[in-house]
Amino acid sequence: MTVQPLTSEELLLLAAAGGAAPSLHNSQPWRFRPTPDALGIRVYVDPERAVPLTDPDGRALHISVGAALFNLRVAAVHLGREPAVHLLPAPADPQQVALLDLSQPAATELPYGRDLYPAIGQRHSSRQPYTNRDVPETVIGELIAAAREEGAALSLLEEDGVRRVLGLTAEAERRTDSDLARMAETRSWLRLEEPATDGIPAAALGPQDHEARVPMRSFTGRPSADTTASQRFEALPQLATLTTHTDLPADWLRTGQALERVWLLATVHGLRASVLHQAVEWPDTRWGLRDPAEGPGHVQLVLRLGYGPPGSATPRRPVTEILDLTASQKTTD
Ligand SMILES: Cc1cc2nc3c(=O)[nH]c(=O)nc-3n(C[C@H](O)[C@H](O)[C@H](O)COP(=O)(O)O)c2cc1C
Repeated sequence: MTVQPLTSEELLLLAAAGGAAPSLHNSQPWRFRPTPDALGIRVYVDPERAVPLTDPDGRALHISVGAALFNLRVAAVHLGREPAVHLLPAPADPQQVALLDLSQPAATELPYGRDLYPAIGQRHSSRQPYTNRDVPETVIGELIAAAREEGAALSLLEEDGVRRVLGLTAEAERRTDSDLARMAETRSWLRLEEPATDGIPAAALGPQDHEARVPMRSFTGRPSADTTASQRFEALPQLATLTTHTDLPADWLRTGQALERVWLLATVHGLRASVLHQAVEWPDTRWGLRDPAEGPGHVQLVLRLGYGPPGSATPRRPVTEILDLTASQKTTD
């Protein structure tokens, strides 16, 4: 059975799904372009939407675009197509980070074990306190397997690991907070009053931890005048790290796909999540995040999981800004 070229409606649905992914400071650093035969999509990083002081190597940029790529794959299955991914298909063009071949019908209905498509619109960062309820072992097992299938290791931390990671995150948060240039960069992504299509609105910010145990990122700088009053967070947050063997753009793209697969699956299970990325942003605190017992590896991201309020939606750029339809009509391969 052959599949038809993607219609405009299908392309719009795919791009909307990709664009709903999480990204550093909601920078949405991606662009999508159908192949000239409209049987696939090329995925690009958008360097104009980089966050250079916080993310000088473009690691978080690639993780964000990797997350968008996973959403595209989920949406492709929803449309009955088999998503075949080629990472970094054109070495001469490093901005083109993936080619998604959608020329075959979907091989299985539920390639990710569950229908993850509805979760794309339901997933939000929840920066609120969570309850003390443990994530069941069976769910943890599913999340670990999901990350592994994407080429990343998800490790749920034991109590001593949680304390180590919280300490490093607090240290990194203090440093970032006293770095005027970085704080100005972070604040430039805040959208506290004006309606916007990117960045972080006031409603998506959370409180600081009253006990100063969970070092949530202060987007506004301290004292955090624009956020709500501090609140008591969970006594021992449930933290997980995503780790890869090497630390190259392909690893960052795999981490992004793993992050989004884990986050969508967590959403299906009624779990909330937020990212604690501060310690990954300084080389020495990032080094300290490694669990010596796990062997060599590069920690790419820290995820906080639990049960609590869902978190608010953040804005997205219009699909017409991220989907380049005109270029494909002009281009020939
Ligand atoms: C690589 C990366 C790093 C992030 N770092 C943080 C962080 O340190 N603190 C935080 O609260 N959210 C962090 N986030 C979450 C983004 O701020 C969030 O995805 C974005 O604002 C869009 O909101 P949404 O997740 O609700 O769709 C990060 C996301 C990614 C992909």
